[in-house]
Amino acid sequence: MTPATTPRLVTTAEDLRTALANAGRVGLVPTMGYLHEGHATLMERARAECDTVVVSVFVNPRQFGPREDLGRYPRDLGRDLHVAGAAGADLLFHPDVGTMYPPGYATNVSVGGVSEPLEGSLRPGHFDGVATVVLKLLNLVRPDRAYFGEKDWQQLAVVRRMVRDLNVPVEVVGVPTVREASGLALSSRNSYLTAGQRERAAVLSKALRAVQTAAMGGERDTARLRQVGLDVLAGEPELTLDYLAVVDGDMAERERVENDPMTRVLVAARMFGVRLIDNLPLLPDAEPDAGAGA
Ligand code: PAJ
Repeated sequence: MTPATTPRLVTTAEDLRTALANAGRVGLVPTMGYLHEGHATLMERARAECDTVVVSVFVNPRQFGPREDLGRYPRDLGRDLHVAGAAGADLLFHPDVGTMYPPGYATNVSVGGVSEPLEGSLRPGHFDGVATVVLKLLNLVRPDRAYFGEKDWQQLAVVRRMVRDLNVPVEVVGVPTVREASGLALSSRNSYLTAGQRERAAVLSKALRAVQTAAMGGERDTARLRQVGLDVLAGEPELTLDYLAVVDGDMAERERVENDPMTRVLVAARMFGVRLIDNLPLLPDAEPDAGAGA
């Protein structure tokens, strides 16, 4: 192991270009900071696959709704530099809002289809904000590869759709979710919860696991699969459910699930005043059904 070094802190597009001259294969890990082990796995993956690893830390106002937690979103640049350094990042790009959205800024990137259901319908404008900032970061950094967590499964689908539709010259890499021992998916927003509350929030992953177990046991009826998860969640009085959905790779809900590794069970709920999301593959070992002519 090489000792961790602090990544170089860069805040402007000009300094980024200078720092990335002769950078070789560049990997980008876009984040909103308050970095944790989940973010670190993305950086470690990038470190293993690229010559230069850039992590961006930018709390993007355009992806927060008016009643969401932009004002209280946790921020700690000192800690981020430390986590990024330990995970092998070379550069930490930390632009301010005026650098990303200067006066007169007027462009919006809106991805259709996969961005519309679930998070898209509950958080209007959220994925426009995500797509817009991700495209800007890709244009600023010009990475060969960009790393995103499966934790935000629909976000990953939206980014993949945008990259395909707009011919963005980057390879999108999805990285599996890092969890606490309880099963709770790591998230910067977990910092809003006490240890006891985090323990109870693990009910989300327990519900997903129950649905996955039922599917692996042969259940293919979506309504019955959902019910398995709802029964687990019903045991937690502090939980307000936004959705529990079984979707295919296009984020569409179907009556019966296919033997497709892209089929996923997703959950979003509020607990103790915090909105939490998680998902699992329904059939992690599924071989896609042999289609006609395949
Ligand atoms: P943020 O929530 O900071 O997450 C940054 C990246 O880390 C995302 O790709 C997310 O899926 C991944 N991630 C978060 N928790 C994870 C976990 N437990 N295991 C593995 N990966 C995890 O997602 C965003 O920021 C923003 O929307 C962004 C893409 C940066 C655009 O502003």
